[in-house]
Amino acid sequence: MAEILLDVRGLTHRYAMTSSRSVTALDGVSFQIRHGEIFGLVGQSGSGKSTAARCIMNLLRPTGGDLHYKGVDLLDPKQRRENRRMLQTTRQLIFQDSASSLNPRMTLADIITEPMVINSVKPPRGSMRAEAEFQAAKVGLSPSCLDRRPPELSGGQRQRAAIARALCMEPELLIADEPVASLDVSVQAQILNLFRHFQTEHGFSLLFIAHDLSAVHWLCDRVGVLFHGLLVESAPTTELFENPLHPCTRALLSSVPLPDPRRERQRRLERFDTDTLPAAETLREVSPEHFVLKED
Ligand SMILES: Nc1ncnc2c1ncn2[C@@H]1O[C@H](COP(=O)(O)OP(=O)(O)OP(=O)(O)O)[C@@H](O)[C@H]1O
Ligand SMILES: [Mg+2]
Repeated sequence: MAEILLDVRGLTHRYAMTSSRSVTALDGVSFQIRHGEIFGLVGQSGSGKSTAARCIMNLLRPTGGDLHYKGVDLLDPKQRRENRRMLQTTRQLIFQDSASSLNPRMTLADIITEPMVINSVKPPRGSMRAEAEFQAAKVGLSPSCLDRRPPELSGGQRQRAAIARALCMEPELLIADEPVASLDVSVQAQILNLFRHFQTEHGFSLLFIAHDLSAVHWLCDRVGVLFHGLLVESAPTTELFENPLHPCTRALLSSVPLPDPRRERQRRLERFDTDTLPAAETLREVSPEHFVLKED
């Protein structure tokens, strides 16, 4: 089995609202991502997916739990400087909304090579322009796009640029937070194909955050299901889709539309009442690598 790249243990984050009130976005979430693995994180809106991504990317300091990257403690204040350096060169984040995550005043060429400039990386192809052209071609962007700015491009072109920008640092771990949610279906398929192609070519690990379970089914090796900040189930993708055990997972899977009208008519939507979630539950392994939150 491949070595563990990212080890998330008991990750907890509370957003302070007032001095006495806070929102618990993550409540003791644990999962691991191995070298070269695609791990999908799914869950309804507000379940804590982006909060987990921000904690892993050092954009948020979690209020509890442990984060280890290749054995290095990411939350150790003594290693903060080393972590920051390592972060830029080994982990990259792609956001859902490329319209707001890419600087509208910069040209695409500058956007793509910005991580290399910030980290003083010498461009392997001689100049930053040549590097931008090379990376753009890899994601299917024509050189004519490079002098344009994000508002002059389509959503699909912007998301391709975001992928090129992330890949120019050759990350070991790529975190994609709902990278296709704002795109139409045909462009979604193109972008998902790009992820799969580059993951096979570069062998990086991918944390793929999504609402769309069919995309997760197609792309991911393992999947974790978040619900109200709790990881309720995690399993290899085929196992999770064939044998979902937690009522929350079953409810999520039952909401996926089926392309066959006859089966779609017979589909029964399962409901999951949040009040039925027992107070004390622990994650238990029910079959190899299949963990489910169960009552104590
Ligand atoms: N900056 C913030 N301040 C206060 N609460 C926040 C903040 N950011 C997120 N939250 C709350 O934390 C919880 C988790 O939010 P998060 O954005 O991580 O969910 P998500 O699963 O990514 O949702 P979505 O699928 O809609 O992107 C939600 O209840 C949200 O309202
Ligand atoms: Mg989110």
